[in-house]
Amino acid sequence: MSRAQIKVEANERITIEGKSYRVTEHPALPGIPYLQRGARGFVIQLAAPDNERMALKYFKLKYRVPELVTVATMLHKYADLPGMKAARRTVFTNATHAPLIAQYPALEYGMLMPWLPGMTWYDLITSKAPISSNESIRLAQSLSGVLAAMEAQGLAHTDIAGANVMVDRRNSDVQLVDIEEIYGPDQPPPVEAPAGQDGYQHKQGRERGQWNANGDRFAAAMLLAEMLGWSDARLRQNSADEHFFASAEMQDPASARFRLMSQALRDHYSDDIASLFEQAWNSPTLADSPALATWKDALAALQPTAGVDTSVAVPSAGSGAVISGRRSIGGTSNTAPVPMQTPLPQLTLDGVKLCRNCGAENPASYTFCKRCGFFVGTVAQRNQLNATRAKQPAASQISAPITTAPAAPVVVKRDNDAIIVAKRVGDPGKGMQRVATQPDEKPEETQPVEGSWVIAGVIIFMMLAALLLVLLAH
Ligand SMILES: Nc1ncnc2c1ncn2[C@@H]1O[C@H](COP(=O)(O)OP(=O)(O)O)[C@@H](O)[C@H]1O
Ligand SMILES: [Mg+2]
Repeated sequence: MSRAQIKVEANERITIEGKSYRVTEHPALPGIPYLQRGARGFVIQLAAPDNERMALKYFKLKYRVPELVTVATMLHKYADLPGMKAARRTVFTNATHAPLIAQYPALEYGMLMPWLPGMTWYDLITSKAPISSNESIRLAQSLSGVLAAMEAQGLAHTDIAGANVMVDRRNSDVQLVDIEEIYGPDQPPPVEAPAGQDGYQHKQGRERGQWNANGDRFAAAMLLAEMLGWSDARLRQNSADEHFFASAEMQDPASARFRLMSQALRDHYSDDIASLFEQAWNSPTLADSPALATWKDALAALQPTAGVDTSVAVPSAGSGAVISGRRSIGGTSNTAPVPMQTPLPQLTLDGVKLCRNCGAENPASYTFCKRCGFFVGTVAQRNQLNATRAKQPAASQISAPITTAPAAPVVVKRDNDAIIVAKRVGDPGKGMQRVATQPDEKPEETQPVEGSWVIAGVIIFMMLAALLLVLLAH
């Protein structure tokens, strides 16, 4: 078995500390092992002899460092904090698990931990799954409780983003994964300082990293706003893609999505909540974003409506309607009031579509974003473009050489609750699996980029020719 990766088959057996674990099948992809990939490693779902689900994580070579043992020891102290079930982990080293590592060298400094039920917040956003307003409140309360408890201990996760937050919708429980880069007293620094992820990144994190005590403040504000706003159909419809905000519009005070979110928070919840979000968005440094304890108190003042648990009404067709009139679903605030800020002017999105790449407001008739050139057209326009391109002579098309036959698409079993995000499902040993998606689920990509490469190539060619002529003339 290679040192870089583990090739597993569904139902294969792996023996750890004398117990025989079974690699489970993906619930929606028959025959495919249940494996999730992240930025730094891979997580395989195992079934213990008593059928309890466990998560086996191993890292890419660069991130396989002895400090992971120190981190795990420290994490055990915090395993009883809310949202920290993944802290109950066993790390494998040559000193403690030599036979296992001899069989699977990639497992060095890998770990076994409880499998957390539910789905990631990323999966929920990407699938555009609607949630009720009560669920919005409960999830946001749960996440703020988890992060405020860490903050009280001087800890910060430092890489808060959709794919690192698990939500169990049956009981609105929120748990954190990817906790190896935790910041805290006496914690060893990670291999790379986390800089924040697209849709959750503060400019300070991007420039200087966010491995510090305030490292969760901004990302948490974005994620809490997403949780609160996701029960509003208008926000779901105008979401960037894998996160509500596009990376190019972060902290831009003129961003339409920022204004849309502020309005929604003010209209559905309270001025306090909207002001906390605006404070984070406009914060020059991470420390200027609200503390997690402040969020927790403000959210504790919201009361889910007893009994009824319906989604916020979907706006009628032509959904450019201005969100107006307070539809309060919260209770009265019992926290110190946040200073009132002048509400932003009401935003209307009549006849407008927001670019998923940069957030620019485009007329609904546009096919490409007026600011960044990203495709913003309809599925029909996309199909038409593809058909036109397919008809063009091969010489005029630029494409990467195909060296291997494309993998046969995997048939998705849709008769269960599992949410499939093609990007994250796959076997590192066999290449990523291609997952069949509905036509309207296909991700769009930037169209004009190919054209710009051609233009750049022509310009470079002409400059070289001119240079050659000058040299020959001399
Ligand atoms: N304990 C766990 N239980 C369930 N799913 C998990 C667990 N840990 C990780 N995952 C899943 O695996 C994915 C990648 O894991 P993560 O720890 O975030 O890896 P990376 O460090 O590479 O980002 C997560 O986004 C999540 O979907
Ligand atoms: Mg991760």
